[in-house]
Amino acid sequence: MQPCFTKFRSPKALIRQIFLSAITLSRKMELFVGSEHSDLYQKYRPTYPPELYAFIANFCKTGRGSLDTAVDVGCGTGLSTLPLCKYFNKVIGVDVSETQINTARTTHRQSNLMFHTSNGEQLQFLSDCSVDLVTVAQAMHWIEPEPFYREVTRILRPSGSLVVYGYGINTIDSNEGNKIIDKFYSHDLEGFWDSRRRHIDNLYQEISLPFSGSERISDFVIQNRWSVSDVVGYLSTWSAWQRYLKQHPDSNLLVEIQRHLENIYQDQKITITWPVFVLLGRKESEKKP
Ligand SMILES: C[S@@+](CC[C@H](N)C(=O)[O-])C[C@H]1O[C@@H](n2cnc3c(N)ncnc32)[C@H](O)[C@@H]1O
Repeated sequence: MQPCFTKFRSPKALIRQIFLSAITLSRKMELFVGSEHSDLYQKYRPTYPPELYAFIANFCKTGRGSLDTAVDVGCGTGLSTLPLCKYFNKVIGVDVSETQINTARTTHRQSNLMFHTSNGEQLQFLSDCSVDLVTVAQAMHWIEPEPFYREVTRILRPSGSLVVYGYGINTIDSNEGNKIIDKFYSHDLEGFWDSRRRHIDNLYQEISLPFSGSERISDFVIQNRWSVSDVVGYLSTWSAWQRYLKQHPDSNLLVEIQRHLENIYQDQKITITWPVFVLLGRKESEKKP
């Protein structure tokens, strides 16, 4: 059985781990701190399909887990946290960025929903065996797996579930439009993507969960009918664009893209689709004596 407590490491190893986490964290944090980025994120990022949350709740139930407490780590502005409120008595969104948490708090007001600023690798505010579901949406590639999985194993109740999911690169319903977005993604922003972005490109194939029997599904997609401005707004939320802008504050790349897309679509809506990947795992149940 997986234990409900953390194994103690030597003080030297612990200090090294904290030091390394602090360095990687400060590098990652620069991407999510700006309140403007947070507002863009809340406005233009796609939401996940409601069926995905019904599926996750069902996964918890079939594992004989209860639907009491869910924790969404790397919750950002709460887009991935709010839908859990329909199924769980208590939902806690956790994010390392104070700005994201502030936007989440002001945007979503629900009696069974709360937000907490913390990094996923250190969840001391949650006690051992107190959580039925941990989710991570579009954020696992930012989190250090080893300390995070140790924390997940500690806080999950026996039979509790861990669900890690996200979406890959979008396509739109015009070859010409796809070429424009592809050039922006692969050529213009080349060198501005964090190396961890490859995990999104390969739909988390290199990421595995710490529990035996974990599974992977790719049955869901996110699909929206968006205006050209919505699509361009979404492109502006890309972390590589935010980095690019810091070096090229006067860039009109997105203005150009908007113009090209308007030429193709005129006033018509764009169908935009993202492939969704889902990794599901369960902590072992308590063995009967
Ligand atoms: C791409 S956003 C995903 C937000 C949300 N889950 C969604 O699906 O829309 C990634 C989020 O992970 C957070 N993050 C990055 N590293 C983290 C860490 N080590 N612990 C907790 N959150 C982290 C960032 O602050 C950011 O809000």
